[in-house]
Amino acid sequence: MQIKSTAFLKSAVHPEHYPEGGMPEIAFAGRSNVGKSSMINCLLNRRALVRTSSTPGRTQLLNFFTINDAFNLVDLPGYGFAKVPLAVKRSWGPMIRTYLEKRRNLRGVVLILDIRRIPGEEDLQFLDWLEEYQIPTIAVITKADKVTRGQRREHVRKIAAACGLPEDAFTLFSATSREGRADVWERVAQALDS
Ligand code: GTP
Ligand code: MG
Repeated sequence: MQIKSTAFLKSAVHPEHYPEGGMPEIAFAGRSNVGKSSMINCLLNRRALVRTSSTPGRTQLLNFFTINDAFNLVDLPGYGFAKVPLAVKRSWGPMIRTYLEKRRNLRGVVLILDIRRIPGEEDLQFLDWLEEYQIPTIAVITKADKVTRGQRREHVRKIAAACGLPEDAFTLFSATSREGRADVWERVAQALDS
């Protein structure tokens, strides 16, 4: 994928504030601090288009970006962080479900998991929603640089088993080493075209 232009479009919570234009769209989801924003920056070769943070739970709105004036990427707020205010936690589910249900131009969701962590209840619930709304799912295991090459297979095996998905459903990725970047783009481009 050649990136000619990238721009922040807007932040939104409710459908009436989502950007219009009907461009095909891919959203990035996962636990708070898993590396969603870092993945988007890596894919776009931009160091800081999307704000990243070592403090989990910073992204609390749907953040829309326009790429090549041809498609949108959406950085979704992460789930599962204990220190987020209760009001924010309560509004997260409806905000996400509404987006998944209503966004007609949504072509796929990149669901991001941490290689060091067995998927939790919230990850599995998110997978259920994607199935419920029949949204093509691109499962990516990130922070691959955090485990040795020899350990990777075992981590992927456990994560796949917990999700009830085959191991080859997952693409390994690292925003630090940039490995897997081309594979993620290939799956994203395929979803955008479908
Ligand atoms: P929220 O917006 O809070 O939900 O977090 P996020 O999922 O957007 O995570 P973010 O991209 O902000 O990254 C969280 C932390 O993980 C940052 O300190 C990143 O530098 C780090 N990080 C992200 N991706 C990787 C990776 O592939 N490898 C390593 N080693 N660190 C990473
Ligand atoms: Mg983020």
